[in-house]
Amino acid sequence: MTVKVGLVSLGCPKNLVDSEVILGFLKNAGFEITNREQDAEVLIINTCSFINDAKEESIKTIIQLARLKNGGNCRALLVTGCLAQRYEKELLAEMPEIDALIGTGYITDIPAIIPRVLAGESFSRVGIPGYLHTSNTPKIQTTPRYTAYLKIAEGCNNCCSYCIIPALRGKYRSRTMEDILNEAVKLVEYGVKELILVAQDTTFYGIDLYGRPVLDDLIRRLAAVKDLVWLRILYTYPTLITDGLIKLLATEEKLCRYLDMPLQHAENEILKKMNRYSSREETVRLVKKLRADVPGITIRTSFIVGFPGETEQGFQELLDFMEELKFDRVGVFAYSREEGTAAAILPGQVPEEIKQERCHRAMFQQQKISLEKNLKKIGKVITVLVEERSLKKQGVYIGRSEGDAPDIDGRVLFKSNLVLQQGEIVKVLIKNAREYDLSGELIQ
Ligand code: F3S
Repeated sequence: MTVKVGLVSLGCPKNLVDSEVILGFLKNAGFEITNREQDAEVLIINTCSFINDAKEESIKTIIQLARLKNGGNCRALLVTGCLAQRYEKELLAEMPEIDALIGTGYITDIPAIIPRVLAGESFSRVGIPGYLHTSNTPKIQTTPRYTAYLKIAEGCNNCCSYCIIPALRGKYRSRTMEDILNEAVKLVEYGVKELILVAQDTTFYGIDLYGRPVLDDLIRRLAAVKDLVWLRILYTYPTLITDGLIKLLATEEKLCRYLDMPLQHAENEILKKMNRYSSREETVRLVKKLRADVPGITIRTSFIVGFPGETEQGFQELLDFMEELKFDRVGVFAYSREEGTAAAILPGQVPEEIKQERCHRAMFQQQKISLEKNLKKIGKVITVLVEERSLKKQGVYIGRSEGDAPDIDGRVLFKSNLVLQQGEIVKVLIKNAREYDLSGELIQ
């Protein structure tokens, strides 16, 4: 009898790619994969530990799933990913319900570890993270057939003072361009229409392998893949956005006019303490250039509020900056004091209630900007990728525009007399707008 294994993936899309690799190795080793946690004899949780909320979610999930060991089908609970990598000793000491802990560098060992754990052994394998998958690595796509994340590199060489990820994922390691292309071709042959490039920093791609950043070259070669419709870039670093990349955004039809560019703050003093390489003035210039050279571009960013030393005046400077540049999409996070990071020991830590209050104020301001920007789209025709049919309203479909990445951005709801398929690309006339979503009708 084959052993049934279930996997829960938490955290970011880069972690999701690891989950897809784990599932691929499990399937190749003859395990049966189940989506029903209560049916699984072995449960694997691929965790995140970026900020406090993510750690809490990971721990809650472990506790919840561990209950299935009492009276349920589950015989073993394996914890992998960033929480396992970061807190090996603590988890071993405090959570006896965990049967095996596997760090981010050893995910491919999971199929070999499972029989040992089922035989009663407890297991821990956490070391220096050095793993990088290739186009030959077995993988099971977990996203809808028409869209896939393509991880182009692993690790990070930046030293942002608030971030623990380099310690969990190791030094930046680019995959070769040929290998990424091979994977892209396979994915598109399987039915993928939209490829989403991910890495801790996509703009750093190639520096370790080719001696210079070559994201532009990679995009050009990927855009030539036949039958690929959309190519989207996430996680860019402002100072590495080249004129070449901007030109591609303006001219390469398959490249979504969309840029995810976390900026973290606007006040130069705070940016310095964050160990970011950009200044407010440079960023203003960059955003203005992007808007001038790439008409219709959607810019997503994220900010951290309540970073050590952030005064009310410094926070106000961030609000002014957001108001001045009117980003299309913004995520605002309260600073999370992470042990092991340089910022955790900085003076001037901001009380939790002030961080939360600033977070709400910034989000509230952005909501108004988002609504203003979305209202301007009424009467325009936009290209939409069909994702699903509404279960509540007949003849209504839900999709995404090129300005919307899956899971983080808005959606487009639209009426259609035609029956549409998932992954189809259609034109929609926008008739209504809310802060995050648009609605309209199909144009034939
Ligand atoms: Fe979380 Fe690890 Fe991603 S810390 S955000 S799952 S790289």
